[in-house]
Amino acid sequence: MGSTKILVTGGLGFIGSHTVVELLQEGYDVVIADDLSNSERFILDNIEKITGRKPTFYHLDLTKKKSVQEMFVSEDDISVVIHFAAYKAVGESLQLPIKYYRNNLFSLVNVLEVMQEFSCEHIVFSSSATVYGEPDFLPINESTAFKKALSAYGSTKQIGEEILEKVAAASNISSIALRYFNPVGAHSSALIGELPIGTPNNLMPYVMQVAAGMRESLTVYGNNYDTPDGTCIRDYIHVVDLAKAHVKSCERLLNTYDNPSHEVFNIGTGNGYSVMEIIDAFEKYNEVKVPYTIGNRRGGDATSIFADVSRSEKLLGWKAELGLMEMVTSAWQWQQQLMSEKLGETVK
Ligand code: UFG
Repeated sequence: MGSTKILVTGGLGFIGSHTVVELLQEGYDVVIADDLSNSERFILDNIEKITGRKPTFYHLDLTKKKSVQEMFVSEDDISVVIHFAAYKAVGESLQLPIKYYRNNLFSLVNVLEVMQEFSCEHIVFSSSATVYGEPDFLPINESTAFKKALSAYGSTKQIGEEILEKVAAASNISSIALRYFNPVGAHSSALIGELPIGTPNNLMPYVMQVAAGMRESLTVYGNNYDTPDGTCIRDYIHVVDLAKAHVKSCERLLNTYDNPSHEVFNIGTGNGYSVMEIIDAFEKYNEVKVPYTIGNRRGGDATSIFADVSRSEKLLGWKAELGLMEMVTSAWQWQQQLMSEKLGETVK
């Protein structure tokens, strides 16, 4: 696989950086395009520390088509694009929908146009379990119909998938959309992980900051749901497992297809854990306290969501390997590493 070149947009972000590491370790050449709007340059150095290889980096905005074209001129032999680059804050997307449509959809359309111009025929797209909305049946499988998206973020994921389906039907571009459930954890080196800006919206980064003493306590959004302990259930997936699903997707696109096609896969573990189970596991495996209070339900939260992963197991040849213990311990190690680096900065 030595010379196969893969463009990773958003490659310095949370899932992107872990995927870059897995690709480099599998022997692929990697080019990263990132606008640094939700990522940091030091992640690039840390990718090199982990893998001993430094990917080519383009600091650019994918909504500017000319920049995308210039990158493809310099990197004319890209075989696959893994397109992570997108805004992802559900709450913000409710306040600023146009910002989300402009960034997430213009980027995708520009990437596809330029791929076509340069005869690049494979794309892996970051989708989300959010495309399903509140499920009628569990576990959720890929043939479940979309429900009306509750946020502009979710809407950009639904539209993104639809764009790829139509493009595959009318061109040589094959695509795989991966519907992520709830990505958590960090690389075992503790050199890369999630970098939430401001107050985290998601459970795991909030738990990490409470355990670290950066925030007083976690609010559990409701304990009167119809679940065994009353708190919501989600399918948490270790980010390293998630990254490996992208490597498998590249292999499938490069090896299996004769005709252009569009496929979708759920990327989860198939197991659901409640909010209380996450707190308990974090405390138990990391031997730290996570103070919490029970608050009101958060608007728009589904009671229970977990994936049917049989299709990804069968067709992608991929299965999550890491469990809850690895998720919470790697997350905590990364949080501690971040704090020690911050401490270093202040001392300097
Ligand atoms: N939760 C709390 N307290 C918090 C934060 C979250 O109790 O401070 C609870 C939520 O109510 C929910 C669970 O923890 O029950 C998980 O919430 P997250 O915000 O971590 O994740 P969501 O399942 O709401 O959303 C995630 C991604 C979205 C994606 C969606 C797909 O963040 O990007 O999964 O289902 F669209």
